[in-house]
Amino acid sequence: MSQMPHHIAIVMDGNGRWASKRYLPRIAGHKQGVDSLRRCVRAAGQCGVKVLTVFAFSSENWSRPADEVSGLMDLFALAIGREIPQLMADGVRICFVGERAGLSPRVLAGIEAAERATASNTKLILNVCFNYGGRWDIVQAAARLAAQGSAVTEQTLSAAMSLAHVPDPDLVVRTGGEQRISNFLLWQSAYSEFYFSDKLWPEFDEAELDRAIASFQQRERRFGKTSGQIAAQAADGSSS
Ligand code: FPP
Repeated sequence: MSQMPHHIAIVMDGNGRWASKRYLPRIAGHKQGVDSLRRCVRAAGQCGVKVLTVFAFSSENWSRPADEVSGLMDLFALAIGREIPQLMADGVRICFVGERAGLSPRVLAGIEAAERATASNTKLILNVCFNYGGRWDIVQAAARLAAQGSAVTEQTLSAAMSLAHVPDPDLVVRTGGEQRISNFLLWQSAYSEFYFSDKLWPEFDEAELDRAIASFQQRERRFGKTSGQIAAQAADGSSS
């Protein structure tokens, strides 16, 4: 049987272009993006994915036009509260990953309430990277180790990163036709497989998720080893 990715991470790109193509304001694309995310969370849970991590707002997104930033913050605050019943029904635990300083009290309250309400759900973990950057994460982890006087090793740094509660992503998907990482999961994607979709995020549906998973299932993950070693490992059932 083909291996299902345990953890899928997604750069949800293309909301603005989706809206512009329809002569709508960019925020209409972000609203449609929330619908797409809801669909994707359900589909991922149904096909056995255990962790979904999405890039909702980057450390760099603050430099967008002020009306888009405030529209996005209003949308997040509204959506976070509104989605809780569905997350509960689907057994989804939501975790917000990123810097909390600088967020409005309304957004912070929504984040904390959603995390609290869904804390004991176990079917799927949904990590929402919000006010997040991969470089920020590495720096905050290193600063934490320095403050504790801890040695810096791959293990201690990994344990201090903001996604230490989940294994690294098996598959990173980016929609919107661009092929770059844009400061997402820089540390954690070291051995991830990548899938680039030309679909704009609001158009991303179950069929495209299936295509991304099918593409992942065709890949041979070698983690620095040779093809021969991987075949031998598979034959004797070991992973070392
Ligand atoms: C990138 O598209 C998308 C974003 C910056 C926002 C993504 C946010 C959501 C889909 C909503 C998530 C909601 C919750 C509650 C977590 P873009 O604006 O860069 O698109 P463009 O490249 O076409 O301009």
